[in-house]
Amino acid sequence: MQRSAKSLHLPVPDAGLLAGMVEDLVRKHLGDIPEPPSSLYLRPTLIGTLPNIGAAAAPSTEATLFVLASPVGDYFAGGARPLKLLVADTIARSTEQLGSTKTGGNYAAALGPTLAAKEEYGVDQVLFCPGGDVQETGAANFLLLSDEEIITKPLNSSFLHGMTRASIITLANDLGYRVNERNFTVAELLDWAASYEAALSGTAATLTPVGKLVYEGREMLVRDGGAGPNTEKLRKALQAIQYGDAPDTHGWLTEVS
Ligand SMILES: Cc1ncc(COP(=O)(O)O)c(C=O)c1O
Repeated sequence: MQRSAKSLHLPVPDAGLLAGMVEDLVRKHLGDIPEPPSSLYLRPTLIGTLPNIGAAAAPSTEATLFVLASPVGDYFAGGARPLKLLVADTIARSTEQLGSTKTGGNYAAALGPTLAAKEEYGVDQVLFCPGGDVQETGAANFLLLSDEEIITKPLNSSFLHGMTRASIITLANDLGYRVNERNFTVAELLDWAASYEAALSGTAATLTPVGKLVYEGREMLVRDGGAGPNTEKLRKALQAIQYGDAPDTHGWLTEVS
């Protein structure tokens, strides 16, 4: 939130203030939290509110900060179905300035290509790889996994720095995987798809397996097209902490009662 507010030239909210707002809201709605694997989705939001018609060249010096909450169902109802992605190397999800900013415009920009890809190829999401650089989908980060190694793009300004990506990297290190944060190309991805598992990481999806890629009209399987064991292992490890079934050794949980 602070990084995105700064990049949008909005007033930067105090971290303690926002944490307190989230905790207060959760406390008020303890009774509305469904049993895992359902959850209470929380969405802190910041909007500029300065009454200024010439906004193109002047930032909003006033903003409203609020938190939305909604119970959501099990993302994996019916099982963790491996996803099919269109590998798109000619369109970007965002811009150079806003790739790592969480802002509505990025989702609007990704929507058109994603709807078109769903219609044309029957895919679930688009994997945006402008100029051949494998970045992320419209709302999740992208990882490759093997029994020994996790490969994912290193943090830069071109894509969103997801919390789940960071958590999975931490858990992968704990579990003895070699974490290889490196840039990789579409050509490398297509080459590795026969032996590596692929997965999307995000708050809602945790770690969702990718079973198929479509590139230049050709469809190919990622390994055998099924959910891979390393994806399952890391997803379960994260969920066990979230559900309170495994010790929270990294201090990720906040108790609200
Ligand atoms: C563009 C984009 N990338 C990645 C993610 C994953 O981020 P996180 O793990 O923090 O949910 C999201 C989540 O909303 C996203 O919108």
